[in-house]
Order: sequence, then C-alpha cells, then structure tokens
Amino acid sequence: MLRAQSGQQAGVDTSAPGCRVYVSRPLPEPGIHLLREGGAEVLQNQYDTAPSEEEWRAGLAQADGLLCVLGDRIDEARMAAAPRLQVIANLAVGYDNIDLAAARSRGITVTNTPDVLTDATADLAWALLLALARRLREGERLLRSGSWKGWSPIQLLGTGLQGKTLGIFGFGRIGQAVARRAAGFGMSVIYCSRSPKSVPGLAAEPVGLEGLLAGSDVLSLHSPLTEETRHRFGAAELSALKPGCLLINTSRGALIDEAALTRALQAGELAGAGLDVYEFEPKVSEALLAMDQVVLLPHLGSATKEARAEMVRICSQNLLRVLRGEPALTPVG
Ligand code: NAP
Ligand code: GLV
Repeated sequence: MLRAQSGQQAGVDTSAPGCRVYVSRPLPEPGIHLLREGGAEVLQNQYDTAPSEEEWRAGLAQADGLLCVLGDRIDEARMAAAPRLQVIANLAVGYDNIDLAAARSRGITVTNTPDVLTDATADLAWALLLALARRLREGERLLRSGSWKGWSPIQLLGTGLQGKTLGIFGFGRIGQAVARRAAGFGMSVIYCSRSPKSVPGLAAEPVGLEGLLAGSDVLSLHSPLTEETRHRFGAAELSALKPGCLLINTSRGALIDEAALTRALQAGELAGAGLDVYEFEPKVSEALLAMDQVVLLPHLGSATKEARAEMVRICSQNLLRVLRGEPALTPVG
C-alpha cells in the first residue's frame, strides 16, 4: 500500500486526508499523484489486468473511494465487500459496468468522465469508417505480404463517401462530434435519438429507427448500453439496413447481437463493419476475426494521451471532492 502525503497541487482544489482510495489498474499520467497530493492514501493494482478476487477483497475492504475501469463489474456483491465506500469514479463516460441501483441504495456516489474523450472517440469512429470504406487493412496486408505487383485499375476498390448519408444512433456528445466531421466529407446526416436536438451549425435530420436503417449508407452507433439499447440491432434491424451499408460501433458491443451481425455479414446484408467494442469483450469471435469486410480495434475510442490524462484528472477530482463532503463534478444516476 502506498502511503499518502497531505497537500495540494495546481488543478486539484480539494484534499481528503485520511481517506483511502483503491485504484484497479495502472493509470497514465498524471496517475495517482493527484490523489496522493490531495491527501488520499492509495492502494493500486500494479498489473494492467483485472485484479483477482482476492485482490479486489483486499483493495475494497478499507476503501472510501474506488477508481475503476469499464471492464470492472461493480455489482452489489463488490459493494458489499466495501463497507466504507462513498464514491466510485469510473474511468470512462459509459457506466453500464456499475449497478447504479445498488450504489444508490448504499448512498455511494458514482461518477464518469464526459466531454474530455468526445473528440478522441469521434476521431476513432472516423478512423474505422475510413479504414473500412477504403479497405486500408486489406491494402496494408497486401503490401506487407510482399505480393503487391503495383498499381492496378481493379485493385481493392472501396466506397466513396461524398454525397452519401451518415446515420447516427444516439445523438449526444460523441454522436454529434461524429456528425460534425461528416461535413468535411460531403456527407449528409440523419440521426435517431430519444429526443430531437437542435445543434447550432450542425445540419442533421431526426428520423425514427426505421428511417435510420433504411436511409443510412453508413450507420454509426453512439448511445449508451442500457436495457433499452441492448441488442437494439438484431437480425431484423440488420436485414432492414440499406444494401451496401457500413456499420460502425464505438459505443458498446452489446448494442448489437453479435451472432446476428456475423450472419448478416456472411449473407451480405451489410457490406462491412468497423468495430471498437464487442458483446463479450475482450472475446472476439473467430468468425469475425476471419472476415475481410470487418475492421476490428481493441476498444481504443478514448485512447489518446490527452484524453486519458483529463479522464484521470476528472476521476481524481471527483474522488477527492466526495471524500471531502463536496458534490462530485460529474455524478451519474
Ligand atoms: P451522451 O452524450 O450521453 O450521448 C448518448 C446519446 O444516446 C444521447 O443523445 C441519448 O439521447 C441517446 N440515447 C440514449 N438512449 C437511447 C435510446 N434508447 N435510443 C436512442 N438514443 C438513445 O454520451 P456520449 O458521451 O456521447 O457517449 C456515448 C457512449 O459512447 C457511452 O455511453 C459509451 O458507452 C460509449 N463510448 C465508447 C468509447 C470507446 O472507447 N469506444 C469512448 C467513449 C464513449 P437523449 O440525449 O435524447 O437522452
Ligand atoms: C469508453 O468506452 C468510455 O465509455 O469512456
């Protein structure tokens, strides 16, 4: 266990002397320094893998605060193992890994990291889209294999984006940032969300789910995973997609029924998929791995040094504030 120093540092306006925080993974800069300099005592898992059950028990037993990641399932049992827990800071904007009802009933504050990862994630959605539309993965593989014989009029023809329609499911922070980038590619935007949005300077037409499926040349998913959105894209929805549609998912894997997606790709009901997230993460099915018409990334949406540093900063501030009896900056639930 790391002993904490009391004190303050620029950017951290709170201190929580005597409080203990369990951190479930190594962190990028600024790491645990803000917590320690805010006066917290920090116990941290030193390995970049999930803690064992024994490590969780040891970490949670005396924790007043928890800094966890989106792969950590924080359920009733885990909270019961943490009798002193006051605050859970999730190092992510999505918080479907946390049982909010259990936290509420125990008076535990839950926080996330909105806004600071919006651009990084929107950029990654576009990276997937461009890689898929222009067949970058196949092109790079051909070149690296040593079998490229030079330019050819019929080689690896992709799909142009100009004049096409980008459909967005979940028109919040990231969905809108993805839509904003579409103007530079000459695409028009339609979206399906719970409520219509009026965003200054952003031309986008609200449609129902049916309109979104039938009208999108590219469909990009950006809603949270909830009981409403789980398997929102199953066999019926995938077969209703416009022929030739490209599907991009940087939200949560379980929005899509992955078995149905595999069948739809095999049947050619959609032309390809760019995926950053998976239904049974980190497991990815052999069938998807074997397909040429998919681009697969290991959940990299927010993975820039800049975004991750801000995420760590927000988590640290939320933890210190709640432990000092102040309201969190970004509470959820
Ligand atoms: P956000 O600002 O809350 O936006 C989510 C949007 O989804 C909201 O506009 C919401 O509509 C809409 N929505 C919610 N339920 C819906 C439903 N049943 N049908 C249609 N739309 C629905 O969240 P965000 O910051 O954009 O993040 C979105 C998600 O991206 C996160 O929850 C997370 O799972 C994922 N994410 C992934 C990565 C990655 O590394 N791949 C990185 C960051 C985020 P209303 O506004 O009408 O409520
Ligand atoms: C990443 O997936 C996040 O929700 O921040």
